[in-house]
Amino acid sequence: MEQSTQEIIEREKKAELSCYAKRPFVAERGEGAYLYDKEGKKYLDCVMGHGVGNLGHCHPKVVEAIQEQSKKLISCPEVFPLVVRAQFEELLLSIAPGERLRKGKVFLCNSGTEAVEAAIKLARVAAKRTGFVVAMNAFHGRSTGAVSLTFNPKYREPFEPLIGPIKRVRYGDAQAMENAIDDSIAAVFLEPVQGEGGVRPAPDGYLQQVRELCDRHNVLLIMDEIQTGFGRTGKMFACEHWGVSPDIICVAKSIAGGLPCGAMIAREGLDFSPMQHGSTFGGNPMVCAAGIAAISAIKDEKMCENAAEVGAYLLSRLKEFETSKKLVREARGKGLMLALELKQPSKEYLLRLISNGVLALPAGDMVLRFLPPLMLTKEQADGLISALDKVLE
Ligand SMILES: Cc1ncc(COP(=O)(O)O)c(C=O)c1O
Repeated sequence: MEQSTQEIIEREKKAELSCYAKRPFVAERGEGAYLYDKEGKKYLDCVMGHGVGNLGHCHPKVVEAIQEQSKKLISCPEVFPLVVRAQFEELLLSIAPGERLRKGKVFLCNSGTEAVEAAIKLARVAAKRTGFVVAMNAFHGRSTGAVSLTFNPKYREPFEPLIGPIKRVRYGDAQAMENAIDDSIAAVFLEPVQGEGGVRPAPDGYLQQVRELCDRHNVLLIMDEIQTGFGRTGKMFACEHWGVSPDIICVAKSIAGGLPCGAMIAREGLDFSPMQHGSTFGGNPMVCAAGIAAISAIKDEKMCENAAEVGAYLLSRLKEFETSKKLVREARGKGLMLALELKQPSKEYLLRLISNGVLALPAGDMVLRFLPPLMLTKEQADGLISALDKVLE
């Protein structure tokens, strides 16, 4: 007998550890910019799997690549060389931001936090130092190393003691960064646009200053582009807006069209020794095939360009709320990584948006975050604006 939405919600609640704040519907299928629930209701999806769905749901080229690869080989450890893996790694290197990264090497893993773990370990062995400078409000993941870099005390403090030393500085303040760098520091970790921390783009000039002082103090610059990567901000990688190339870049989320995958790309001259790091699932053939299809589609279908154009349009419409809605403090973001900061907690408005057929996510307590697919149309952007217009009263 078919179960009701409420019954399914209760089943998950009973079977799962209590990590997540569940939304009040049961998802069933996705197509392009829309998610459908089991009752057939359609939602404009501006959560997109927390930024996994840059290509939208079930992009046909990704579906086809998964189908074809699944007939040949589903699983294969890294120790057995694979054509599809070599192709995926070369493709990642070819689009990496900066000459020295393009001449570098890739480590494939399965998530964002694993890409960050790989970067922590590589920075420590390369620099022979243990410390990191990170930004306040940074989010770098939840595994023990990555959560040490993450700012929110709620995520971090229950698990202390964590790795260190970690120095936390104000995002956007290059002088504070310079003051924090000493002989203990292996690397600086930064998001070019802070995501979970409130959708805050780096102030102009900041990343260039940080790059310069990392060079001067012989410290590695690690860019976390897990949320900002693969066209999200209107360029393939957000650091390209400022012409800055890191020593190491961490990517994940939309890298493989929706399949679980992460990667760390390290510039030439940086490498692990054999057996220093590894992953059973890393470089999985299904994921590599999906990744090639996804990145090729982003390039061929000019998704970065669309994200830049429709993102600028959507931001201008969101900005109108700064004057028309008392509740709105600020609209901000880059490309299709956008947010509205409210003067009240955003939770209630997220639920009201769901009732109006729009899925959004929080970024801290007061912020509504929108991560729609990169091929969002202006009409769909207008649909989001109409829903917001209704709920922000
Ligand atoms: C900037 C950033 N870094 C790291 C992570 C962690 O990625 P994952 O959830 O795949 O481990 C996230 C996830 O939201 C993120 O946005």
